Amino acid sequence: MSVPPQFTLDSLIDETLWLDEVQSTNSFLVDRTTAGSALALSWNQTAGRGRLGREWVSPSGGSLALSLALWPELVPKPVTPEWLGALSLVTGASLADAIRPHLSEPVRLKWPNDVLIGAKKVAGILGEVSVDGRVVVGVGVNVSLTQDELPTEGATSLTLHGFQPVSQLQRVISAFVGGLRDTLKGLEGGLTREKRAWVAEQCDTVGREVRVEFPGGATRNGTAMSLDDTGRLLVHFDDSNLVEGVDAADVIHLRSAH
Ligand code: BTN
Repeated sequence: MSVPPQFTLDSLIDETLWLDEVQSTNSFLVDRTTAGSALALSWNQTAGRGRLGREWVSPSGGSLALSLALWPELVPKPVTPEWLGALSLVTGASLADAIRPHLSEPVRLKWPNDVLIGAKKVAGILGEVSVDGRVVVGVGVNVSLTQDELPTEGATSLTLHGFQPVSQLQRVISAFVGGLRDTLKGLEGGLTREKRAWVAEQCDTVGREVRVEFPGGATRNGTAMSLDDTGRLLVHFDDSNLVEGVDAADVIHLRSAH
């Protein structure tokens, strides 16, 4: 892709900011004090941040960093960890819905916040809250990275699956932002039964045997059964008779349980 497309989404959000270079589009919006919704985008993010304090590597020019300061009227006050958990899932589901029409391969979710093409990760999501209670949700999408440019073995990019970014990217982003805005209406009380079903049916983790790696280093194997209304993964662990909710962990897909 020679010239990355730049566009605005005036009808959906108050401000669109294209940044030539930025350390992190999430930090940029978290640190800004402007009220109202905003979209920050960059093809050159130099210190991207991922989940659980990890770094997110966006090779320059082929990976899009996009952060959205959410519409204040759609953010609960105060923001609860449960709402943030649900936000991460509906953001992934909205992004997967926006990408899917442009590809012939399955676009699925890996709990809690990865978008997959086949078994490989094409996008990751990080939601954050500023000190004054604004919520920024950031998405890193590998758009046109070649095989050699991919940051990890488990990653892929849209163009490696036939996506034509110049003509289609604006449509993907506006479908994503518009879809997310519609989904946030009515999310105050967590995931409704309908929204849970919508996320669960595209979540590749549900129905799988999984290894759950907890932040302290412990691991447990089990079967991912479903999601609850705060976005936790409900797992029937092999070492227990109970189904337990998991909220902050890494999940490794082992095999389909069926
Ligand atoms: C993950 O998979 O661990 C989440 C990755 C989130 C990366 C995006 S890129 C845009 C925004 N800015 C950041 O610093 N992080 C998010």
